[in-house]
Amino acid sequence: MPLRARLSRLAPYFGYQRWTWVLAILATIVVAGTEPAIPALLKPLLDQGFTGGTLPLWAVPVTIVGVFFIRGLAQFINQYALARIANDGMMRLRENLFGRVLDAHLGLFTKQSASALSNTVVYEVQNGSTLIVQALLMLSRDGFTVIALLMYLLYLNWQLTLIVAVLLPSVSWIMKKLSKRLYHITKASQQATDELAYVVEENVLAHRMVRIHAAQSSQSARFQILSRKLRQLAIKATIASAAMTPLTQLLAAVALSAVICIALWQSRTTGINAKDVTVGGFVAFISAMLMLIAPIRRLADVANPLTRGVAALERGLGLLEEIPPEQGGGYKTEQARGAIALQDVSVAFGEDKAPALRHLSLTIHPGEVVALVGPSGAGKTTLVNLLPRFVEPSDGQISIDGVALAEWDLPNLRNQFAMVSQDVVMFNDTIAANVALGQDIDEKRLLECLAAANLQDFVERQPQGIHSIVGHNANQLSGGQRQRLAIARALYKNAPILILDEATSALDTESERLVQEALSRLMQGRTTLVIAHRLSTIEHADRVVVMERGQVVEQGTHQQLLDLGGLYARLQSRPH
Ligand SMILES: Nc1ncnc2c1ncn2[C@@H]1O[C@H](COP(=O)(O)OP(=O)(O)O)[C@@H](O)[C@H]1O
Ligand SMILES: [Mg+2]
Repeated sequence: MPLRARLSRLAPYFGYQRWTWVLAILATIVVAGTEPAIPALLKPLLDQGFTGGTLPLWAVPVTIVGVFFIRGLAQFINQYALARIANDGMMRLRENLFGRVLDAHLGLFTKQSASALSNTVVYEVQNGSTLIVQALLMLSRDGFTVIALLMYLLYLNWQLTLIVAVLLPSVSWIMKKLSKRLYHITKASQQATDELAYVVEENVLAHRMVRIHAAQSSQSARFQILSRKLRQLAIKATIASAAMTPLTQLLAAVALSAVICIALWQSRTTGINAKDVTVGGFVAFISAMLMLIAPIRRLADVANPLTRGVAALERGLGLLEEIPPEQGGGYKTEQARGAIALQDVSVAFGEDKAPALRHLSLTIHPGEVVALVGPSGAGKTTLVNLLPRFVEPSDGQISIDGVALAEWDLPNLRNQFAMVSQDVVMFNDTIAANVALGQDIDEKRLLECLAAANLQDFVERQPQGIHSIVGHNANQLSGGQRQRLAIARALYKNAPILILDEATSALDTESERLVQEALSRLMQGRTTLVIAHRLSTIEHADRVVVMERGQVVEQGTHQQLLDLGGLYARLQSRPH
């Protein structure tokens, strides 16, 4: 895609502030307009001030200070306006990106790591907007300056100016070639930066395992490969962008020497004091020409930040455009009855992988408590994840209250579930905020839920009670406490369908017994799916469903299954 088309994709974020843009451009025109004023002032200064001696002295400070005052004011306005545009755009883009992280199709999280996503939302967006605005600042200011100076040169001596005009296409050709290369390098650096951040993320997560397995050297080797690759890419980028400046300068030097030669030749043939070529006129021409070099050089460089900035922002745009939001239907209900039906459902996580569920059918009545039992990897977690649509079936139909899952409004569907999942996830926030998650905090009910989850003593021992912070993923709590906190969260949500995926696996028998009471109370009148190994949990179920390799192999009550003498009987006879 050409740079212009790529830039136009950014318009909704950075282009909507019409008046700020107008202000910025007007200010730039003023800044650029004052540029030729300096050589233009030299002409009367030299011709009238020195040669003629007719210039009043007061005119010198008035004009010089005046020009710089106007120029300074315009520069200030220009910079301010562009900063507004950049930061407003960045804020919008960032908020949209985070919004997409919140509503993205769940496939996003298998495709991109946490570090890559946070890189995009936090770093790349910032980097990209800053670079682009700097580039636009340069482009507008220097672009107008070049135009203004060229116009002044044309006015002074149009023949000489033609030489300068040859300069521009050559400069733009060099810019185009090098910026293309720079774009590819930038893309590759982004990839490498993501990988580097991912290694850091993993090592932070696994810091204990790395130490106990003495895996430091292999991890640092992994890191080194990537950090060297990044260094390599950075150097390549520097080579591409550093070549730009001297190449354009060289062209400028060629043009400059040609102009001076021709001017000298002209003055020799026509005489220095001829009407068009005065000393003042010549000095003004040369200084305007010399003043052209700096902006042209910067213009030649502008492709560099522009390319990098666009590449950085494109990652964000890619996230918005390529990752669809989750799609739900229109069916809504206050409170589901909780009739669940799975018919001939299969789930495959990958083409080459064995399916996690194979043609599974299961009907659960409203208010029924069903225990899912089976060896690890049987597909129990996959089955319960289907219900709030965390996993999509590759085949078959699933319905709740007779309405196909796809027809449910998604937030409404998920509102029907309270879930204690296998891996507890907590926010680095207060106990109260973690338990109430997404709902208003009702302290009385909150304390009841905490007590029911057998956390009362724990909360009372905390310095700030329910307002104590639990740390990153509640790492300041023990495994059992975290699990009980997750149970309290499910109790607080008070939803019609309850899913407990090994919810009490980290608890000792005593705590489990205490929590079990609360859970049993919670299960009353609710459709419940409970995945558990312990007999104490399974016994309470109305029905036990035994799964193996993605299929239901047996079902019935605990006693019926024991009498059957199949897989369930074998699983139960094994000591835990
Ligand atoms: N996100 C995933 N990507 C790929 N395979 C998965 C994923 N989740 C589960 N599986 C596979 O699906 C199968 C069933 O897993 P799971 O439902 O977690 O079993 P259970 O909860 O019964 O132990 C396993 O073979 C597992 O490897
Ligand atoms: Mg599981």
